[in-house]
Amino acid sequence: KLTRRAATPFSKNSKTSQGLVGLRNLGNTCFMNSILQCLSNSRDLRDYCLQNSYKRDLNSSRTNTALMEEFAKLIQTIWTSSSNEVVSPSEFKTQIQKYAPRFVGYNQQDAQEFLRFLLDGLHNEVNHVTVRPKAVVEDFDHLPDEEKGKRMWKKYLEREDSKIVDLFVGQLKSSLTCSECGYCSTVFDPFWDLSLPIAKKGYGETSLMDCMRLFTKEDVLDGDEKPTCYRCKVRRKCTKKFTIQKFPRILVLHLKRFSEARIRTSKLTAFVNFPLRDLDLREFASDNSTHVVYNLYAVSNHSGTTLGGHYTAYCKHPLSGEWYTFNDSRVTPMSSNQVRTSDAYVLFYELSSPSSRM
Ligand SMILES: *[C@@H]1O[C@H](CO)[C@@H](O)[C@H](O)[C@H]1NC(C)=O
Ligand SMILES: *[C@@H]1O[C@H](CO)[C@@H](O)[C@H](O)[C@H]1NC(C)=O
Ligand SMILES: *[C@@H]1O[C@H](CO)[C@@H](O)[C@H](O)[C@H]1NC(C)=O
Ligand SMILES: *[C@@H]1O[C@H](CO)[C@@H](O)[C@H](O)[C@H]1NC(C)=O
Repeated sequence: KLTRRAATPFSKNSKTSQGLVGLRNLGNTCFMNSILQCLSNSRDLRDYCLQNSYKRDLNSSRTNTALMEEFAKLIQTIWTSSSNEVVSPSEFKTQIQKYAPRFVGYNQQDAQEFLRFLLDGLHNEVNHVTVRPKAVVEDFDHLPDEEKGKRMWKKYLEREDSKIVDLFVGQLKSSLTCSECGYCSTVFDPFWDLSLPIAKKGYGETSLMDCMRLFTKEDVLDGDEKPTCYRCKVRRKCTKKFTIQKFPRILVLHLKRFSEARIRTSKLTAFVNFPLRDLDLREFASDNSTHVVYNLYAVSNHSGTTLGGHYTAYCKHPLSGEWYTFNDSRVTPMSSNQVRTSDAYVLFYELSSPSSRM
């Protein structure tokens, strides 16, 4: 009897080896390649490109659609090439440079800044809103916080509404409490990522939760920083605190290792311990009865110093769940226990779906 051998998990055409394709370095473009690999392994964004859904969102009346088109083309090439091939992102690079001319040179660039520019550029081309309504100042201060947050989010979507926003944008609440009268005023702002200060603990090791706690720690605004209390109508010493009002589906956490993104004077190499699974952020939620758990799927790693350095990416394959190192043109399997290093710089977490948490 003839028995047909099932494809081994890593055979050439197997689904689990798709996407394992290197990107050519076009001269100090490792920062770009690292971020592109993290995005290529963002399941929903990948599917948006592979299934051509983005085409529905490219309005023909818009003049610029080339960045999204080149990005989608690149993702499609990555996911249809056979593994161990190397793809050149040069056409994509041409488009991102038109959008953000400061990425023209061949200098070391900041991967997190690049990510922001890229997501902003993609969003602008697939925004369902083609003509933004005039900004109208509305006073929601009489509403309960929960309702105010919802209204502010709705107002945001009236201007910025795309698949990119759908995936990456969350909402931050800042509460300002007057030390005199106790009045608490709230402000709600969208965020595309969170830049976390690195909490310092005696021995150079710290945890992501400690960085989150430092980021959301109550701050005293006094002296020159005193804000005007809404009720007292004069400048008062206040406390300010952040909570997360709306958690994004993809949470990008940026560890502030560089003293200044542009003028990189020093780099903090503290080891920040972060979980690969079940990052529970409930304590930072405005409403702490929300169940919020994230799983890590990609890391942009920066090794080296402020002047010279190298970016790579660690990504979890969206189909096999196996981890790989993407070092420009090279892709190599790695063990999940190698993912945590003191060079982790930008972390990509996805919200765990209700059905997958037991
Ligand atoms: C494209 O934009 C125009 C102008 O804003 C709008 O009238 C039209 O409905 C949009 N088309 C699609 C397919 O979204
Ligand atoms: C939620 O917040 C309340 C009030 O601040 C607090 O008493 C409670 O312990 C919190 N619950 C959790 C699960 O963090
Ligand atoms: C990345 O690959 C280069 C060669 O292309 C090698 O010199 C370097 O050590 C690799 N870096 C890491 C962190 O694997
Ligand atoms: C990531 O960071 C670690 C810790 O410094 C470094 O040893 C390693 O070479 C880096 N890995 C890659 C793939 O860049």
